[in-house]
Amino acid sequence: MTQALRPAAVFEDRIATREATLGVVGLGYAGLPLAVAQAEAGFDVVGIDLDEARVDAVSERRSYLIDVPAQRYDELDGRLRATSDYSAVAELDAVTICVPTPLSKTRTPDISHVVSAAEAVAENLRPDQLVVLQSTTYPGTTEEIVLPILERTGKVVGEGVFLGYAPERVDPGNATYNLRNTPKLVAGVTDECLKRTELLFRQFVETVIPVSRPMVAETAKLHENTFRSVNIALANELALMCDRLGISVWEVIDAAATKPFGFLSHYPGPGLGGDCIPVVPHFLAWRLREYGYSAQLIDAAHEINAQMPIYVVQKIADALNDSGLPIKGSRLLLLGMAYKPDVHDTRESPSLEVMRQLIARGGDVRYCDPWVQEVELEGTRHRGVEWSAAVVADADCVVVLTAHRRFLDEPHWRDAKLIVDTRNVAPPAPNLTQL
Ligand SMILES: NC(=O)c1ccc[n+]([C@@H]2O[C@H](COP(=O)([O-])OP(=O)(O)OC[C@H]3O[C@@H](n4cnc5c(N)ncnc54)[C@H](O)[C@@H]3O)[C@@H](O)[C@H]2O)c1
Repeated sequence: MTQALRPAAVFEDRIATREATLGVVGLGYAGLPLAVAQAEAGFDVVGIDLDEARVDAVSERRSYLIDVPAQRYDELDGRLRATSDYSAVAELDAVTICVPTPLSKTRTPDISHVVSAAEAVAENLRPDQLVVLQSTTYPGTTEEIVLPILERTGKVVGEGVFLGYAPERVDPGNATYNLRNTPKLVAGVTDECLKRTELLFRQFVETVIPVSRPMVAETAKLHENTFRSVNIALANELALMCDRLGISVWEVIDAAATKPFGFLSHYPGPGLGGDCIPVVPHFLAWRLREYGYSAQLIDAAHEINAQMPIYVVQKIADALNDSGLPIKGSRLLLLGMAYKPDVHDTRESPSLEVMRQLIARGGDVRYCDPWVQEVELEGTRHRGVEWSAAVVADADCVVVLTAHRRFLDEPHWRDAKLIVDTRNVAPPAPNLTQL
């Protein structure tokens, strides 16, 4: 029946009837939940990843991400399969690219994974295919980088192949907001590209919001994360100022938050972590340099947030000093290596920087994190210790860095000799130092 329809109608029809096969390139934090959501919506889905271990895990229905527990695979009736072979692209009606976009040490975006994924997709392109970029990236990537790669095949975007951008907003471990109920921004290079991208995401996301062009969606994603980075920097700077004033930053924020309009609470901490908030604002700043514009607020926020681990180490040194102890040789127990509660993600975690600095100053450092068994610092592996009253009793100082639920449910740290609390979870006590 679909043979007689115009290509656009064929695409719509194949999506509506679930005859369409969908693909996701990059089965990580962003890509795997998308692939699973597509399969849950009734599509056959192919996940493509160069990492054989991830391909095997998906094929064997093993969980490696908090948001995709093993039972979610079981409910898919085999509709999701994984491969490292890009020739599978030729089977797909639509393919979404979710590969990493890291920053170099000099804060230059590295879009090499996007380029190689787009090239591999282009080599296997099938007529009338929709390609959507979902990786977080600098403004202009979809049209300046991905579009020419697709058009090198001889196909014209908007005619023989369709290109959209749909940024990922997922917050791993968030019990309220997931891929389905988090509104999705979508954009297309042409009207038909937008129409197809919108139609695709409407199948498994409740609210899909079209914007006029890919650069708007790319920049909106960066602005969302920049908003967080700048506001967290403001809270961190407030902590530094309240310290000098001798008042509690937490009390100040709670007091300010009683204003029912025009204020949104953000809290200080040991620094910024995760794959997005510390990294993403620099995509915007980097791109704008080309336009002769210096993103001062982004840079200032980075400087303040990056200082926080040093400030925490100073707090630890001061607390020990008050007890007549140096960092060198003191037994220090760090609580939480993950960058936020109840996830196992340690990417960019400020806890790692705090740990690195304490070890560099001769501290006898251990950590406890129910979610993170092992961390690697400068080539050395460190295994976490079990959470117990005994490890707390053994420490000269306990440092709360991540407020995992387990620590709050079993608050052994309250019996510590000294506590440095960067998360405002400890009750007032003479041996407590707060941020
Ligand atoms: N982690 C998050 O919470 C989050 C949230 C929003 C947006 N994002 C963005 O989503 C994108 C992906 O991030 P992630 O956290 O899922 O990364 P990730 O590292 O968890 O996963 C990426 C996957 O892509 C694979 N890969 C890399 N290059 C490939 C290639 N050329 N072909 C096929 N597979 C390839 C890797 O093996 C890996 O499995 C990034 O741009 C990131 O900024 C992530």
